Amino acid sequence: MNHFDLREGALACESVSLAAIARAVGTPVYVYSSATLERHYQVFRDALTAHPALGSPAIAYAVKANSNLSVLATLARLGAGADTVSQGEIRRALAAGIPPERIVFSGVGKTSEELAFALKAGVAQINVESEPELKRLTGVARAVGVRPAVVIRVNPDVGAGGHAKISTGGHESKFGVSLAEAERLYRLAETDDALNAVGLACHIGSQITDLAPLEAAFGVMRDLVLRLRAQGWTVERLDLGGGLGVSYFNNPEPPSPRAFAAMAASVVGGLDVELAFEPGRVIAANAGVLVARVIHVHERPDGRRFAVLDAAMNDLIRPAMYEAYHDIRPVAPRPGAAVSYDVVGPVCETGDTFTRDRLLAPLEGDDLVAFMSAGAYGAVMSSEYNTRPLIPEVLVRGDAFAVVRARPSYEEMLSRETRAPWL
Ligand code: LLP
Repeated sequence: MNHFDLREGALACESVSLAAIARAVGTPVYVYSSATLERHYQVFRDALTAHPALGSPAIAYAVKANSNLSVLATLARLGAGADTVSQGEIRRALAAGIPPERIVFSGVGKTSEELAFALKAGVAQINVESEPELKRLTGVARAVGVRPAVVIRVNPDVGAGGHAKISTGGHESKFGVSLAEAERLYRLAETDDALNAVGLACHIGSQITDLAPLEAAFGVMRDLVLRLRAQGWTVERLDLGGGLGVSYFNNPEPPSPRAFAAMAASVVGGLDVELAFEPGRVIAANAGVLVARVIHVHERPDGRRFAVLDAAMNDLIRPAMYEAYHDIRPVAPRPGAAVSYDVVGPVCETGDTFTRDRLLAPLEGDDLVAFMSAGAYGAVMSSEYNTRPLIPEVLVRGDAFAVVRARPSYEEMLSRETRAPWL
């Protein structure tokens, strides 16, 4: 459920009309709903805590999905932790008020500088993804004088996800270590007095719309916990990653958080570990939209109709990068039969096509449209390609809204660059 609905014939976010935001802030603009973010977090948390066998799992929101400070602060107030993958994300989580004890640091290529920063900040856990990283972490831990809690990220060899580019659990992917390798690395970590080996982690992909691969992966992780314990090691934590898919309005209803939690309880319930989950998309995707303006509609003699928007692939890259589908809704739908459009942006490549042959209510120049489900992996993946300024982000709460990232001026953009002294 989300809080983007038609009110008096026009699309609104909670009690604020998207047209009013577009007037005040300009387009394109990302708009996020606080009530939806909060609801998604609470539904996910309540689904898990309904199962006593799961204990009280940590929910480390995957910051990469939407890392705006106000989005993070909204979730921080509900008790969310953070799954981070760079020094920048750790800094964001801390700045938003997420305490270091609730921050997890993952990723296949953490630099020594980043690891040192994380240890000094006192993050809860480092998810180690390879043997070279374990060695690097030992060195950094000794230098910094902190004994970090370490979990080994395992690749359970169960791939899943909405697109090949976002599947991470197959053995050919760069993420984590094999099961055999995991046992060896765990032993290494357990016997290294610079480190505190506490458990295991996995994450098999994103936009997963079927519980079966998650269930298989969780089962592999459960068996590994039991095998390590049989070897005499203590395993206290199990981080099961993110990945639960959402509705993009063209796919079958994904499994509910409740069904996900029931599955988790049946596979890892009662294992006597502190569980953690790293949801990103399921919290943020349907809590945000991208609002764009139609610059003009251009009809070819062959009948092909292009709706050319002021938003482009640099603002929302998911369609170009993953052939992703985003529902597109006119903000104030005009009456009349639906018309087929190719919806495109102004960037100079054919890849800058959001969709082809989409049936939409009739559009005219200056109309506003909203790309739905753009709250996750939207603004965070944007760029300044074609020297287009990063677009603003707006957070709505009830009948109030605030610009939570401002659109930079062209002067600001250009001032970051200098002429080399010989020019
Ligand atoms: N934990 C780890 C270790 C991850 O790599 C990810 C996402 C998550 C958690 C959160 O997964 P989620 O719950 O959001 O599925 N840019 C792509 C998605 C990339 C996901 C990367 N990893 C997209 O736009 O679809």
